[in-house]
Amino acid sequence: MWEFNTEITNFFSDRLLEWYQRHKRDLPWRRSRDPYHIWISEVMLQQTRVETVIPYYNKFIEQFPTVEALADAKEEDVLKAWEGLGYYSRARNLQSAVREVKESYGGVVPDSKEAFGSLKGVGPYTAGAVLSIAYNLPEPAIDGNVMRVLSRFFLLRDDIAKPATRTGLEKLARALIPEGEAGSFNQALMELGATVCTPKSPHCLTCPVMEHCAGRLEGVQHELPVKTKAKRPKPERRAAALIEGIGAEAGKVLIRQRAKKGLLAGMWELPHAEAPEEVWQLDSERDVPGDKPGLAVQDWLREKVMEETGMAVEPLGCVMEVEHTFSHIQWQMRVYRCAFAGYGTPALGDGLQAHEGQMRWASRQDLDELAFPNVFLRILNRHFGRT
Ligand code: ADE
Repeated sequence: MWEFNTEITNFFSDRLLEWYQRHKRDLPWRRSRDPYHIWISEVMLQQTRVETVIPYYNKFIEQFPTVEALADAKEEDVLKAWEGLGYYSRARNLQSAVREVKESYGGVVPDSKEAFGSLKGVGPYTAGAVLSIAYNLPEPAIDGNVMRVLSRFFLLRDDIAKPATRTGLEKLARALIPEGEAGSFNQALMELGATVCTPKSPHCLTCPVMEHCAGRLEGVQHELPVKTKAKRPKPERRAAALIEGIGAEAGKVLIRQRAKKGLLAGMWELPHAEAPEEVWQLDSERDVPGDKPGLAVQDWLREKVMEETGMAVEPLGCVMEVEHTFSHIQWQMRVYRCAFAGYGTPALGDGLQAHEGQMRWASRQDLDELAFPNVFLRILNRHFGRT
């Protein structure tokens, strides 16, 4: 796809490696040689920043120090340990893959591309990163940072959203790996992208390969890499009910568990539903946090909560508006405080129930045991006065 002079490619690889040895950050997973630990770190780092990952990584390794420990753990405990990191299917796939490692490979992370690359959730990036860092196999590991660095240095204007560009970059990155240095070299590329060759304002003057960086020499470093935009996430207007218990359930709120498959599978949440346009718009003037909802919203909420939970409630007020963006949808959520309006102590599972997962009353302390998506964690922490 692209051809480069070996003087330039050798310059790039040698300088980068030398720079990395001197400037690499002291990160917890760099202190471990255990392939399982390296694997955990690479899965966590895929969609999440290093600073965010560090405490999660340390806690996760403490809680599940070995392949066996993670394979034998309860899925809900794994999800709880992942709470706040997002993209929860990563955690579920990781546990399935680790179970396979325990069962089919005697608990040893396989050191071949065929075996490791066929485990659940292990794509080309994870395979390349783990095999090179843990076993020093000369496999490339192409993530966003690496694509940016290579596009700039080699002045590649191809669209990195295209699979053909990725394939070309993989070939280039493979050819750049210095003999016997795959793990360090791949990390050096990532490190340069994370700390020097940053997206908005690259620190070219401190870059070890600036002299021959074709993007900089052309003055187009800010324009690279070229990436066509993904479609904008589709907005979805949702209303959530914060139903407060009474009697034996006083001080608690009603939560439910999501289905075992699909978005945020198995996690806990407040009951919520997509609000029809007319309901949302009708009262949008007055339906702001702090207000009693308009009549149309009250009617809709009563009916919807009955349908979803089998419970009679009285809407009290809109207490919050929150947003959460997933890769393809964006929840715009209004949270309505509701009082239980049935007779006696609210019983679960009575009456109609559209939602199939289990429901329960949760106290402030229960939040420490159950896994919630970030958006509900924010709502519940605010409700219970936790920071
Ligand atoms: N991002 C992805 N993998 C990484 C690693 N091993 N070190 C630092 N940042 C990373």
